Amino acid sequence: MGSEMCIRDSIGIDIGTTGIKSIIIDPKGNCLAKNSVSYNLTTPKPGWAEQNPEDWWQALKSSIKKLIEDSGVKSSDVKGIGLSGQMHGSVFLDKNYHLVRPAILWCDQRTYRECEEITTIIGKDNLIKNTCNPALTGFTAPKILWLKKNEPENFEKTKKILLPKDYIRFKLTGEFATEVSDASGTLLFDVRKRKWSDFVLSNLNIDKSLLPECYESIEVSGKISRIAAEQTGLKEGTPVVGGGGDQAAGGVGNGIVKEGIVSSVIGTSGVIFAFSEKPEIDPEGRLHTFCHAVPEKWFMMGVMLSAGGSFRWLRDTLCEKEIEIANKKCADPYDIMTEEASSIEPGSEGLIFLPYLSGERTPYPDPYARGVFFGLSLRHTKAHLIRAVLEGVTFGLKDSLEIMKKNNIVIKQIRASGGGGKSSLWRQIQADAFNSSVVTINNDEGPAFGAALLASVGTGNFSSVPEACKETIKITSETIPIKENVEIYDKYYKLYRSLYPALKSKFKNLSTELDESKTG
Ligand code: XUL
Repeated sequence: MGSEMCIRDSIGIDIGTTGIKSIIIDPKGNCLAKNSVSYNLTTPKPGWAEQNPEDWWQALKSSIKKLIEDSGVKSSDVKGIGLSGQMHGSVFLDKNYHLVRPAILWCDQRTYRECEEITTIIGKDNLIKNTCNPALTGFTAPKILWLKKNEPENFEKTKKILLPKDYIRFKLTGEFATEVSDASGTLLFDVRKRKWSDFVLSNLNIDKSLLPECYESIEVSGKISRIAAEQTGLKEGTPVVGGGGDQAAGGVGNGIVKEGIVSSVIGTSGVIFAFSEKPEIDPEGRLHTFCHAVPEKWFMMGVMLSAGGSFRWLRDTLCEKEIEIANKKCADPYDIMTEEASSIEPGSEGLIFLPYLSGERTPYPDPYARGVFFGLSLRHTKAHLIRAVLEGVTFGLKDSLEIMKKNNIVIKQIRASGGGGKSSLWRQIQADAFNSSVVTINNDEGPAFGAALLASVGTGNFSSVPEACKETIKITSETIPIKENVEIYDKYYKLYRSLYPALKSKFKNLSTELDESKTG
């Protein structure tokens, strides 16, 4: 057998918000090993979210070394690598390709003024016509304008701007490259034509040379460099494909590559993701329309900023006891929390949680929105709070599903993944609140698995992304809605929907108060 025949496995790497995940799969999509390494996020000011890209790189090196060790696969048998990552974040590099400042992340809310400025300069309709999306605080373009205005010395120094996974690509290959799905979230990209928008760039006075080359997700964008090979244990020359922003790569990992199947993904953010044959647009701009990691295809999604993030916040602020129990049992604190919540009736006896801990995107693009427990009474216990958070996050996802239905997106099957797929209670809450069965599949590594599949397609193991998904992804469970619960959730969802409009102006007042108390 020639040596070419032995090279066959693919690696997928996801640079997430809480840590890096890597996975190695064989050509049939079986997982040979996987691991994750976490890192920190800093909030230098309320509403800000930053990370040091060097931490991603350190985490990547230990993750990949362990992956290769655990899998027993020789690095020379790795046929390709795919990258995925948190979208929209901005990494600013100087002329020596050193970091100018920490990366500003997708969940950072500092840019509301720049969003207004962009909308004024380009015009709302023109912006949607060119980029398929409105200006939202998480996106990349407003971050660039923020830097220019607030840290002009850093902007002057900046010679390249990269998305998180593309910084890792640069460290691995020495190439400045991105791909269409992540580029779609910059607001500098012509999503219909799948190329940088000269119109938006010139109107915002952003030099195109700051941006990387853009590929399709399955195209090879570079090869592992000698230095990266020495630092990671990967083989020099191994191809690295475009990959995808975490939502597009996750869409591939969940098999969302044809119409009718949508996913509900609970990571730090919460996303309802639907495949689209064409670049369709929600006229009210509440759903994002981005290029899919499948060539010539698109997707629409609704994004909540604090889905798993709300649950993590609850764990870290109120669930010390559950963490202790989990440590003793070698269990996951989230499992102890959901067990506690399962003793409470659907509807949490009238306690409703609004999950806007870091502002919101879908359905309310509002950086001022904040979290709320509504209806709290003496009867309520911690178990109620936990259940109310699970339910509030699920209602937030339902908001996106409802908008999709209004946009005539066909929803025949909902695939739950991330935190909401792992917990049987959360799956049931989703099935009941969505009034639809919810299924899970045979892998729960969404973006990292999707990135590995993209590498597998890009290096010739499969003829197309849909074929790769068909061959490797199977349904493993189905949760059916319970009629009585559907009725209860219907009632509470209506109440939930009425709360944000009632509080909208108060959120803004609160933000003004906070600003004034800071400036004295
Ligand atoms: C998508 C988005 C988040 C991040 C983090 O638009 O902002 O889902 O990609 O996962």
